[in-house]
Formats: sequence, C-alpha cells, structure tokens
Amino acid sequence: MTASAEKIWNAEDDMQAVRQALQARLEQLLPAGEEHDRVSAAMREGVLAPGKRIRPLLLLLAARDLGCDVRHPGLLDFACAVEMVHAASLMLDDIPSMDNALLRRGRPTIHRQFGENVAILAAVALLSKAFGVVADARELSDSCRAQAVAELSAAVGQQGLVQGQFRDLSEGEHERSPEAILTTNELKTSMLFAATLQMAAIVADAALPVRHKLHCFARDLGQAFQLLDDLADSLPTTGKDINKDAGKSTLVAIMGAEAAQQQLRAHLQSADAHLACACEQGAATRHFMNSWFSQQLTMLG
Ligand code: IPE
Ligand code: IPE
Ligand code: MG
Ligand code: MG
Ligand code: MG
Repeated sequence: MTASAEKIWNAEDDMQAVRQALQARLEQLLPAGEEHDRVSAAMREGVLAPGKRIRPLLLLLAARDLGCDVRHPGLLDFACAVEMVHAASLMLDDIPSMDNALLRRGRPTIHRQFGENVAILAAVALLSKAFGVVADARELSDSCRAQAVAELSAAVGQQGLVQGQFRDLSEGEHERSPEAILTTNELKTSMLFAATLQMAAIVADAALPVRHKLHCFARDLGQAFQLLDDLADSLPTTGKDINKDAGKSTLVAIMGAEAAQQQLRAHLQSADAHLACACEQGAATRHFMNSWFSQQLTMLG
C-alpha cells in the first residue's frame, strides 16, 4: 500500500469509529420508553434509522481541523443535537400535508409506521430534546452552550428551516425564479449546515474571520447538497420515494440536469476555497467533503 493510500485508509477507519461513537451516543440520549410509549419509539426510529450523518460528521471533523479533540464529550453531544434537529425536520417534511413521502432511509416514513399525530409530536419532542442536549453539555462552558443554542435556534426558526420549508411548500408548485429557489434552499438546507459549522467553531473558540469563512463554506455546501438531492430524485438508491419532485420547480427542473450539475460543481469549488481558508491546518473536512461529493456525482452518472 502506498503511503497516501494508507493515510486515506486510516482516515476511513477513523470515520467508522466516529460514526459508531455517534450512533452509540444517540442511542443513549434517546432511551426506549415504556412498551406503549409510541412517541419515544418514533423519536428513536426517526434518529437512529441509517442516515448518512453528514451534519454531525462535519461538525466533528471541522472541530478537529480547528484543533479540538473529537473525543471531547461535549462536542459529541453538540453533533447529536444537530442530527436530532435534522431528523425532526425530515419527519415533518415527510408528513402528508408536506411532501407526503412513503419512504425515508430505506424504511416506511415515521407517520406510516406510527401515525401522523405521533410523527408530529415526536418531531416537536426531538427539537426540544436537541436544545436540552446542548444546554446539558456541561463539559462545555456556559458561553459555548448559550452561543450554540442561539445558532441552532436561528437555523430552525421562522427565519431558517421553518421559513424555507414554508416557501418550498407554498411556491414549489408554481414557477419560480432561480434566485427564489436559491433563497429557499439557503433557508431550508444551508442554514442547518451553517449552525453545524458554527457549533464546531464555538467549541474550538475560533476567531471571527474563521467563523465567517465557515459560514460562507456552509452556504455553498448547502446549495450543493440540495442540488445533489434534487438531481438524485429519480434514482432508486436513495432510500426515498422515486420522482418525488415531479411537477416541482426545482433548479434541476428549470435549468436541466447538466446545468444543475455544473452549478453544483461551482458551489463545491467555492465551498472548498472557503474551507481551505478557514481550516488552514487541518484537511479532514476538505478530504471528507470532496471525496463524498465525488462518490455521489459518480453515482449520478
Ligand atoms: C435530506 O438530508 C434532506 C436534505 C436537506 C436534502 P440527508 O440527505 O442528509 O438525509 P439523511 O440524514 O441521510 O437521511
Ligand atoms: C429538504 O428538501 C427538506 C428539509 C430540509 C427538511 P427535500 O424535501 O427535497 O428533502 P428530501 O428529498 O425529502 O430528503
Ligand atoms: Mg420537502
Ligand atoms: Mg421531502
Ligand atoms: Mg429532495
């Protein structure tokens, strides 16, 4: 094995350990309830089902690149909180009055397994739990926890994910300008990535210019991520319903797949440049992001 192949192999090995640590901590934070506690069961299923864990992995990798020890228990809890917010957003996104999806992470959606009322309650409980987990991360300073709560709150709220989801649902069936779609995607997807990266910066006590660069990185990353998701809508390998976006005004629909892929690559390049400035010392996040996207783009063909 060449030296560089060995380095990458080790990195993948390491990532596997990080994924396992995340899964174990999520299981601990979401204990199974009593036999008839369907809300607790739905919360566990929504979070523990096999998602890609992109956001918590990014949080941990970026924190490492900024000089933190990834085994820091407070850091792991911040990463779990982000994954809980994300899982709650997916459970709500899937319900009949929103995207009305049947499949998620290769399994029936939470409302199909538990009923719509339980899915909504479990999502609300997960959001609340996420903030509780951040507030309870006592290994971190009061200031860190307060800043992280503010970041998550901005990402979820009326000027964040909620607003993005509302615009996507109310405008997606109609013609939209590319600018309107970009704004909606920023709200519904980039903002949680932004909070994720800022939470890493908070734990690392990163300087303001670094935080700014990470914010720019997250904006481009979110746009690239949503474009990839839209481009993959017709693939049978996503673990989600196929062609769910039929009739929706996505960037892929209005500009065509080829131009959308080009735009995706431009966002990725810009994201990489911001990241290179933000984390001059560490390359783990850049390596992870670039290899993950190139793998996904190969699958698109
Ligand atoms: C899906 O997110 C929602 C989007 C923002 C496109 P992911 O693709 O990260 O979903 P999981 O967590 O792997 O299921
Ligand atoms: C992203 O948009 C949804 C959220 C950010 C909650 P989509 O509706 O395209 O996500 P998927 O395709 O259902 O995962
Ligand atoms: Mg949606
Ligand atoms: Mg959806
Ligand atoms: Mg989608």
